[in-house]
Amino acid sequence: MSLELPTTGDPRDSDLVRAARGLPVRRTPVWFMRQAGRSLPEYRAIREGTSMLQACRTPDLVTEITLQPVRRHGVDAAIFFSDIVVPLQAAGVDVQIVPGVGPVVANPIRTAADVAALPSLQPDAVEDIATSVRQITAELGGVPLIGFAGAPFTLASYLIEGGPSKNHEHTKALMAGAPEVWNALCAKLADISGTFLRVQASAGASAVQLFDSWVGALSLPDYLRHVQPHSAAALAAVADLDIPRIHFGVGTGELLAAMGQAGADVVGVDFRVPLDVAAERLGDAYAVQGNLDPALLFAPWEALQPVIADILTRGKSAPGHIFNLGHGVLPDTDPEVLTRVVEEVHASSANGQNS
Ligand code: CP3
Repeated sequence: MSLELPTTGDPRDSDLVRAARGLPVRRTPVWFMRQAGRSLPEYRAIREGTSMLQACRTPDLVTEITLQPVRRHGVDAAIFFSDIVVPLQAAGVDVQIVPGVGPVVANPIRTAADVAALPSLQPDAVEDIATSVRQITAELGGVPLIGFAGAPFTLASYLIEGGPSKNHEHTKALMAGAPEVWNALCAKLADISGTFLRVQASAGASAVQLFDSWVGALSLPDYLRHVQPHSAAALAAVADLDIPRIHFGVGTGELLAAMGQAGADVVGVDFRVPLDVAAERLGDAYAVQGNLDPALLFAPWEALQPVIADILTRGKSAPGHIFNLGHGVLPDTDPEVLTRVVEEVHASSANGQNS
């Protein structure tokens, strides 16, 4: 641990950006969704006494927390420390993050009048986000920073349900029963997400990821009709900035190609679909990111190592592979296992073995 941050190099020529573009890499790049967070004792220490959303709006905290996993694990990218509800709160939505629960919205959105009252996001309401990105990229040198936003469906689900939901029943009911209200809501959310991505990209992020974590709850026809155009609008907000766009969801085996077609360079794959199968479903047109089951980080190393090797082998089927988990790091994960995974991915993919 406590690796020095590399201070030289151009993040646009990093293995992460190269893999995202389907170019040859020195080693398979690796980072972890939720690498900044409760699995790290240094994160728990620095967060003490500060709420999640307050921490997300404090540039010195955002900078330190974003850098912690890069220093400790030697990952090939930093992910901006923030949350998908930060731009909603900055726009004026009354939302809190309740520990152990997730985002909770005071006044759920259910009607045309609720949608009309949803404010838009002005870039100057998130000036602190641009400040954080500039501070982080100054420290990272050649290591790329990934900016992110929540996709319209996943944000809409939190806003409509009022909090985390297993079945997304109010969301699906609105989508099916009042498609004009649904479309008006998602158009506003695409604008908010697009603005949030653009602020981060303009301030120096080298890639962006659109998180549609819960969209695997939909069928392909519903995704194509009710969601894909809005996700495409969010991703289009940074299309002219020439940085790779990653599009991720959980349980999205049926949706992979449609998520690529929304305007991604890289499609995130959870642990349910092997990467060679994912590459085939994607028509070999996109790089892939994933797909180690986060629960397997709790297994003995002898069981984990062959899974890593298998993912690296199957990842070669795609034009590019970014090693990651199939979803975020679980809070009780031993951080030393994460460091070991990084070392293993680097050692077994070095010297063109996996390029
Ligand atoms: O390291 C990283 O990946 C960057 C930070 C990041 C966070 N949230 C920090 C966070 C990212 C990329 C997110 C995105 C996010 N937030 C998503 C999409 C990714 C995914 O996991 O599918 C979603 C669905 C959310 C909503 C959300 N925010 C949930 C479900 C939770 C967990 C609630 C809990 O306490 O279990 C949060 C809070 C949150 N966001 C934490 C962190 C580190 C934990 C809060 C804390 O540490 O106090």
